[in-house]
Amino acid sequence: MTNSNASTVAQELLADSQLQDALKSAVERVASHASQITEPLPPKADRQVEYQEALAEFSEIRAGKLYFPFIGSGIGNGPLVELDDGSVKLDFINGIGAHPFGHSHPELLDTALRAALGDTVMQGNLQQNAEGYRFSQKLLKHANQNGDVFQHCFLSSTGVMAGENMLKIAFQAKQPANRVLAFEKCFAGRTLAFSQITDKAAFRQGLPQTLEVDYVPFYDQNDPEGSTERAVSVLQSHINRYPGKHAAFIYELVQGEGGFYPGSSDFFKALMQVCRENGIMNLCDEVQTFARTPRLYAFQHFGLDQEIDGLWLGKASQTCATLFKSEHKPKPGLLSQTFTSSSTSLAVGERIVDLLTQENYFGADGKILELSNHFEAGLKAISQKNPGWVSGPYGLGAMTAFTPFDGKPEQAQTLVKRLFDKGLMSFIAGGAPTRVRFLWPVGATEKKHIDLALSILEESLSEQAADSAK
Ligand SMILES: Cc1ncc(COP(=O)(O)O)c(C=O)c1O
Repeated sequence: MTNSNASTVAQELLADSQLQDALKSAVERVASHASQITEPLPPKADRQVEYQEALAEFSEIRAGKLYFPFIGSGIGNGPLVELDDGSVKLDFINGIGAHPFGHSHPELLDTALRAALGDTVMQGNLQQNAEGYRFSQKLLKHANQNGDVFQHCFLSSTGVMAGENMLKIAFQAKQPANRVLAFEKCFAGRTLAFSQITDKAAFRQGLPQTLEVDYVPFYDQNDPEGSTERAVSVLQSHINRYPGKHAAFIYELVQGEGGFYPGSSDFFKALMQVCRENGIMNLCDEVQTFARTPRLYAFQHFGLDQEIDGLWLGKASQTCATLFKSEHKPKPGLLSQTFTSSSTSLAVGERIVDLLTQENYFGADGKILELSNHFEAGLKAISQKNPGWVSGPYGLGAMTAFTPFDGKPEQAQTLVKRLFDKGLMSFIAGGAPTRVRFLWPVGATEKKHIDLALSILEESLSEQAADSAK
């Protein structure tokens, strides 16, 4: 960690030439085996019985079926992943955006192996190694590209915990405020507090009300000015009803679970200005958007550096984090965790950020926009060729979605299962309409993979259209 000439035993270990050879060999062996995985494949017949039994038992143990009949074998090749039944899927959902470099990525594997040689598996309150320190520094450095936005970064192991930490900071800073503002149809997570913010009744069924939340309608791309006026007016009426009671407004800059709806810079700025004038903190939930829009942080894409007071991120970052300002620094005792995360997830998170920022992913000429445009053009071509099958595309950057047929939930759910059976992994988003979304792995996707996804999609839509016509 320091530049001192006196090395530690750990530094000597990592520089050990025999160890270097062993690590190189391990990464090469994985790559060699992974290279057999080249295309989507059906399950192997003689693995089926055991696989189905494992799925049934797993569902029983966890008291609920898995959404997909998916138990991974532990190896993949870029966007392709092998399942334990021997089948191979083109994984364009990646654990809902958690694997931005796909599967068995050699550089991430090398980083993970080195970190796994550390003295403990997990890091946290009394056990912090250099990985957490470096990762926090890096997240701040990239967040402060356009000025000194955040001074602090607190790591945690899940997106919702990073959000809880932010909300605790906000309530402490704004006491005695006891309410929060959020967008209609937002998804924020599933703790007792965040189940109240998440705007979906089914996700808080039977739970006590732990938080007072007031909702504001989201941006409408078809009516930018009208929707902005309506949102500002609803926000103002909440503030008038409960003056001084709102600690924060939680912004999902591109609604993820809600259906891949991006907002606009002017829309967010209008709301954030009202919040600022009323002493309400502007907080961005970047759990799904981090590393997926044409900038590393979505708040940078929307130019909100001056307006934002705090954020939290997750998924693509492996280890989640809360970024905040000195003026909102929490009192000792408010934040602490036994587990920040594992050493591998901290080190791999940092490597992911390095790879994304050192290579050409972001910006107008970056890979994210190039591939996203290619995907969108393919979806439009399907739509033009087959009227009524697909509307959209929707989303932003590496968040791509469309509405199948009439947007009824059953159509989207059937299509997602059909795509899975044919070797393409996607997921649903939104309610009315229900969309099909892809969180494709930015660091592992090439145009040929998108073309393959589009061809599986077109075939599946054609079958579904024929079934509906019966
Ligand atoms: C926008 C958003 N916020 C928060 C979360 C919760 O993250 P986690 O599941 O890591 O707790 C999610 C998860 O999907 C999300 O999409």
